[in-house]
Amino acid sequence: MTALLERLEVEHPVVQAGMGGGIAGAALAGAVSAAGGLGTVGIRGPEAMRRELRSARERAGGRPVAANLLVPFTRREHVDACADGGAVAVVLFFGFDAELVAALRERGIVVLHQVGSLEGVERALAEGADGVIAQGVEAGGHLDGHERRAELLPRARAPARGGAVLAAGGVARREDVDAVLAAGADAAVAGSRFLLTDESFAHPLYKQRAVGAPKTIDTKLFGFGWPARHRVLPNEATERWAGRPRLTAALTGATSALGRVLPLEVAAGRLPAAQRPWLPLFGPAAPLEGAPDRLVEVTPLYAGECVRHIHAVVPAADAVRELAGARG
Ligand SMILES: Cc1cc2nc3c(=O)[nH]c(=O)nc-3n(C[C@H](O)[C@H](O)[C@H](O)COP(=O)(O)O)c2cc1C
Repeated sequence: MTALLERLEVEHPVVQAGMGGGIAGAALAGAVSAAGGLGTVGIRGPEAMRRELRSARERAGGRPVAANLLVPFTRREHVDACADGGAVAVVLFFGFDAELVAALRERGIVVLHQVGSLEGVERALAEGADGVIAQGVEAGGHLDGHERRAELLPRARAPARGGAVLAAGGVARREDVDAVLAAGADAAVAGSRFLLTDESFAHPLYKQRAVGAPKTIDTKLFGFGWPARHRVLPNEATERWAGRPRLTAALTGATSALGRVLPLEVAAGRLPAAQRPWLPLFGPAAPLEGAPDRLVEVTPLYAGECVRHIHAVVPAADAVRELAGARG
């Protein structure tokens, strides 16, 4: 048992990655934590975040639950929401904000920062984070760096100087957790494995397409409102436009010229319904349960390379057990 897991009172070295836009809510985070992993509620508006965190804790029978905040979309109200909701840890991703780190720590919350480079590790720790999650480029969702997990993780340990180091990207099986722990990490973080569980709120056709998928794409195509790299499955939108990165970057880049991202509620709410395969202005919201089937062709189907090793959608508790093995 590592110092971090002991401090957080988490049984298994298995963390479910926060997945925003509604994919990872109370049902998923609560089930993961109840099974002895660390479940994470993905970002949403502050009020909804507080509600989902409380519900996740209830479902977890009081076991610890974490929250995820994407720095570009975070508002000050999210700090109170995470504290009131009872999050023991907050994972920050995609950007830096030393004041946000300080505000969370003042509320007694452990702050972990997911980063994809050595520079990111150094900056996160210099700005006061309790630890880092080294994200490899094989990861699903938004990508911060270019190195694979097995290259970045050992290098991330030196600058961490005793701070916690976790690793994300390509963790789908017990042997992946073993490899991460053998490289000295405190715990392994899995996104795609938990995307493909009964409790994740992703659209059923999205899950179906991800199971065993042989190919993923590193692209900026779904960058309208958030022009950043991400790893997705192929669909009609990527087949049509991913080969024309200059054109799509010019179009989506108009939003970065504004110097800001779309409000979370717009990016996840009204925008997806307006998307069409022929119009390369695709936002970052993934398709959720209950959305029209056609959205699966025009929204980002975030997935990591490791989906090729995932053969079924299973209950989240089974995924925790499978990843944790009999390690105890
Ligand atoms: C569907 C999906 C959504 C994601 N959304 C977020 C997010 O909202 N915030 C975040 O910090 N990371 C997000 N990620 C990235 C994860 O934190 C993590 O780096 C990644 O899932 C690890 O790689 P894996 O998918 O191979 O397990 C997402 C990943 C996936 C697959």
